[in-house]
Amino acid sequence: MLFGSLILLLTAVGAISAYSSHSSCRDVQIPVTVSVPRFIINTTVEDNWDAVALSFNLTRRDSGQSSDPLPIVGKTSQSVRSEYKVGVTLCGDERRPVLVLTHGIIESKKYWQPSFKGAERYNFVDAALAAGYSVLNYDRIGVGSSSKIDALRDAQFQVETAVLNSLIAYARQSMKATKVALVGHSYGSYLSGAAANQTAVDAVVLTGFSGYFDNFAPFIAGASFRVAKLKNPSRWGHLEPGYLTSSDLYAETYGYFAEPYFEHRVAEWSYEHQAEPFAIGELPTLLASFDNFNNISAPVLVIQGQFDLPPCGGNCLGQLERTKTVFQKARIIETVDDLPAGHNLNLHACAPQAFRKIFDFLTIQMR
Ligand SMILES: *[C@@H]1O[C@H](CO)[C@@H](O)[C@H](O)[C@H]1NC(C)=O
Ligand SMILES: *[C@@H]1O[C@H](CO)[C@@H](O)[C@H](O)[C@H]1NC(C)=O
Ligand SMILES: *[C@@H]1O[C@H](CO)[C@@H](O)[C@H](O)[C@H]1NC(C)=O
Ligand SMILES: *[C@@H]1O[C@H](CO)[C@@H](O)[C@H](O)[C@H]1NC(C)=O
Repeated sequence: MLFGSLILLLTAVGAISAYSSHSSCRDVQIPVTVSVPRFIINTTVEDNWDAVALSFNLTRRDSGQSSDPLPIVGKTSQSVRSEYKVGVTLCGDERRPVLVLTHGIIESKKYWQPSFKGAERYNFVDAALAAGYSVLNYDRIGVGSSSKIDALRDAQFQVETAVLNSLIAYARQSMKATKVALVGHSYGSYLSGAAANQTAVDAVVLTGFSGYFDNFAPFIAGASFRVAKLKNPSRWGHLEPGYLTSSDLYAETYGYFAEPYFEHRVAEWSYEHQAEPFAIGELPTLLASFDNFNNISAPVLVIQGQFDLPPCGGNCLGQLERTKTVFQKARIIETVDDLPAGHNLNLHACAPQAFRKIFDFLTIQMR
């Protein structure tokens, strides 16, 4: 509601608490048109037998080598044009620096804005508003409030990167952003890096990210992917079988949380309310697309829970030196590898400390 005539009013009454929780947020659907080539993926997932076979293929010892078992058989020679609706929560005022938030897989935009009782300390959006930023928090296409899309033909890394590029343009044009920073988590960090590699932004903050996939297998295997519509028909019966989720609360906790640094009730909320299935096109197309982010010139912060499984194999200490080589042209590259947390950094007890480090970095770099 603050993106209208209220702005004048609020300015007139001065330092009103424009940033109190949710009061400055509104949900919108943003139409985007993207036009990029598509990978051709020769696989189908119809049932849990297929989900297990896909997990095996993605975790094989020689996965990611040139003898690669990824089921990608080619790429379209032409761009494919598609229109999607992106479900977005906008918070804060116009004419501010805007943070564009991209969540990870088996997650949703609720990751940045948890809603359970006592969630204040875990709420990245409220912390950002209090620090003077406006926020664009969105569900990836195929997830939650965004368009349902084909799990193989649309749910591809470079398509989602193009969607993020459109949202950066939206922040600049419709929110009149003075600056734009991208903040990502996990798969959303890869998307943030890829968008910043194509579109100039003012800063990039990546969490749940190392820039290499050596430690990916325990995560994939541990999640025990299942077909979402079979697993929970009342919640996900409308999705095609190419959407997968983890097998249960504890499998998901293995990949996303580290004892003893989180509240069990938070992991339960995350599993029951925050988590959303991902599409089988997403991981193979990331693996086929990612090489480096050497075209990013903006300052980059990589900030990690020490005990993060998917990027660091459960211990990030000293593992982020290699990460810096992915950003050869970044004006500044800072890393933090020792916060007491697992993969879902924002949902661990140290979240306020992590947020403070992020806003300290952004305050200096976006001056
Ligand atoms: C896709 O897989 C099927 C079955 O394995 C195979 O017969 C077909 O040739 C493959 N298509 C391409 C384009 O590789
Ligand atoms: C796994 O890889 C095998 C061998 O490359 C392939 O035939 C099969 O279709 C793949 N399965 C899935 C579900 O991707
Ligand atoms: C590299 O980044 C600049 C903006 O910083 C952009 O104009 C250019 O198109 C990018 N190059 C590629 C290959 O994406
Ligand atoms: C980022 O840009 C560099 C330099 O143009 C390019 O080599 C690299 O492939 C790009 N990365 C991605 C993920 O597109």
